[in-house]
Amino acid sequence: MTDYQQLFENNRKWVATKLETDKTFFEKIAREQHPDYLYIGCSDSRVTAEDMMGVQPGEVFVHRNVANMVNALDLNVMSVINYAVRYLKVKHIIVCGHYNCGGVKAAMQSSDMGILNPWLRNIRDVYRLHKQELNAITDEETRYRRLVELNVQEQCINVSKLASVQQQYLANKFPIVHGWVFDIKSGLLKDLELNFEKILKDIQEIYNLTGTDWLEGK
Ligand code: CO
Repeated sequence: MTDYQQLFENNRKWVATKLETDKTFFEKIAREQHPDYLYIGCSDSRVTAEDMMGVQPGEVFVHRNVANMVNALDLNVMSVINYAVRYLKVKHIIVCGHYNCGGVKAAMQSSDMGILNPWLRNIRDVYRLHKQELNAITDEETRYRRLVELNVQEQCINVSKLASVQQQYLANKFPIVHGWVFDIKSGLLKDLELNFEKILKDIQEIYNLTGTDWLEGK
């Protein structure tokens, strides 16, 4: 475990390393940000955003919460997405879950989790939506992994329900929404290869907020 004071020592080393390769590094990033990506991931300490993608400061706008949820009543994630889409004009929105997710596991238990109850209920709703598929999986670990993937998929659908995302996509053909899962045991990222256009088409009848049949003729 890293000692508290060590964190500042690490920070000074990090600054020195950055300046070694580019003397103006911090001057440049202080000016403005133009990230192409919005990353929505889990708060889990083992799932870092920038590290695992190998990106630099300024490249990814990040939001993290327990079990990478996109809930329309969560002012925090809604503000992040709105800012990223309308002002930063990100090209891609990534929802990244991970196997061994404590939040998802907790939502598979029949116990009172206190303040987490309403938060985890959203994952229980994902389970209910896909109950047939999940209950058909007899191995508990496999079922748990599948729920992690389905939760990512549902959160991607939740992103697609937002007016800001629909309007920007209609005007610019971006942002594209992607679903990923990080495998803690291997360190590898898996793209669930969700078809964003198909998601939009499927939800259009009920969730279209643009007043336009945006996928007509497709
Ligand atoms: Co997690």
